[in-house]
Amino acid sequence: MSCTVIIGAQWGDEGKGKVTDFLAERADVVARYQGGNNAGHTVIVGEQGFKLHLVPSGILYPDKLCVLGNGMVIDPEALVNEIEGLEEKGVSTAGLRISDRAHLILPYHKRLDELQEASRGAGKIGTTGRGIGPAYNDKSARMGMRMADLLDPSEFHEKLTANVKAKNAYLKQTFGAEGFDAAAMEEIILALAERFRDRITDTGVLLSETIAAGKKVLFEGAQGTLLDIDHGTYPFVTSSNTTAGGACTGTGVGPTAIDRVIGVVKAYTTRVGAGPFPTELNDAVGERLRQRGAEFGTTTGRPRRCGWLDTVVLRYAARVNGLTGIAITKLDVLDGLDTIKICTGYRINGKVTTDFPASRKAVETAEPVYEELPGWNESTGQATTWEELPAATRRYLDRIADLTGVPIVIVSVGPCRSQTIVMDRLF
Ligand code: IMP
Repeated sequence: MSCTVIIGAQWGDEGKGKVTDFLAERADVVARYQGGNNAGHTVIVGEQGFKLHLVPSGILYPDKLCVLGNGMVIDPEALVNEIEGLEEKGVSTAGLRISDRAHLILPYHKRLDELQEASRGAGKIGTTGRGIGPAYNDKSARMGMRMADLLDPSEFHEKLTANVKAKNAYLKQTFGAEGFDAAAMEEIILALAERFRDRITDTGVLLSETIAAGKKVLFEGAQGTLLDIDHGTYPFVTSSNTTAGGACTGTGVGPTAIDRVIGVVKAYTTRVGAGPFPTELNDAVGERLRQRGAEFGTTTGRPRRCGWLDTVVLRYAARVNGLTGIAITKLDVLDGLDTIKICTGYRINGKVTTDFPASRKAVETAEPVYEELPGWNESTGQATTWEELPAATRRYLDRIADLTGVPIVIVSVGPCRSQTIVMDRLF
């Protein structure tokens, strides 16, 4: 199996970082294909915790190449901070490569993200404020700036000057806000680029050569299926294709090269930011999940909304991503509950559906149909095999596999690398 895609099957924060880190050990290259520093992974290695926003977690292995693909939007300041932060902790970033086609997040994108979000009032999306949406906007409007532009200072000067002029006019007219000094911005960005210029390359060529040589590539998705710009709970979504198809468009690798797609699923559901969330629990159980699961955003620190597992969402994720396996994470957070609910359908206008609806109103008014399963009192954190899990835990996991039609290939019972149960069928 040479090419594996890892995606989030819910609303992000499923624990993809840990699963990617685990699978990265067997890969030669780890590539990110969409999003930017709106993502946040925490990976624990020994006593040290690493918070990664842009760089794939494969960087923690000294012999891996890590790719930031063309589908990403990259903030040069955030990138330099992350490279320096890793180097300070003794992690070499020599294996990092950046696509020359990846787009840049520039200071005006961050300002626009803030102002546009504030102007939405009650219709707020709850963005991470990192300039993601405005950068993708410029990409679609064919006025984005790319990594390749940093390699040609006169091209960069010309494009940046024109873009700053256009953005300043928009900022003034629409928000009465102050604009930017193009010359000062140019100096700052070019100085930052000095720190990573030698890593900018045609990563599509690099990946195709890697695959042709029979090496293994892991594609690391950020955010989750329901935050996908096409398939998510629009408009409460991010601005990229977080689903498996994004791995192809976001790296320049064709779909026939992909061997398997693993969906990372938290044993319950969380969401940050605004938007519909049918199984949300605004009660003591929801609070318990938040506290036990430490459900606070890695990027923004915001408390995450918590609820029961939703298999309408998971079946949908299985379909749009073509999942071949599920990695369950944070199972230990459910330890000690008397009973556990699983959502198997939505009642909308009196009718039960098992298909995830497109209509925002339908998802907002959907009443979850639950199945109740017995919980377990034992602690699952020490289990190293499927057989060591309590019978009720196995029953819960089997039911998830039944309801989604996708086999479970990994079970994570804690934050450490060692707290991972791997099923033989993964290989
Ligand atoms: P943006 O990606 O900053 O534009 O935010 C759009 C939506 O996606 C907001 O609801 C964010 O909270 C959500 N979002 C973005 N990145 C992540 C993530 O890594 N995990 C969970 N939610 C995210």
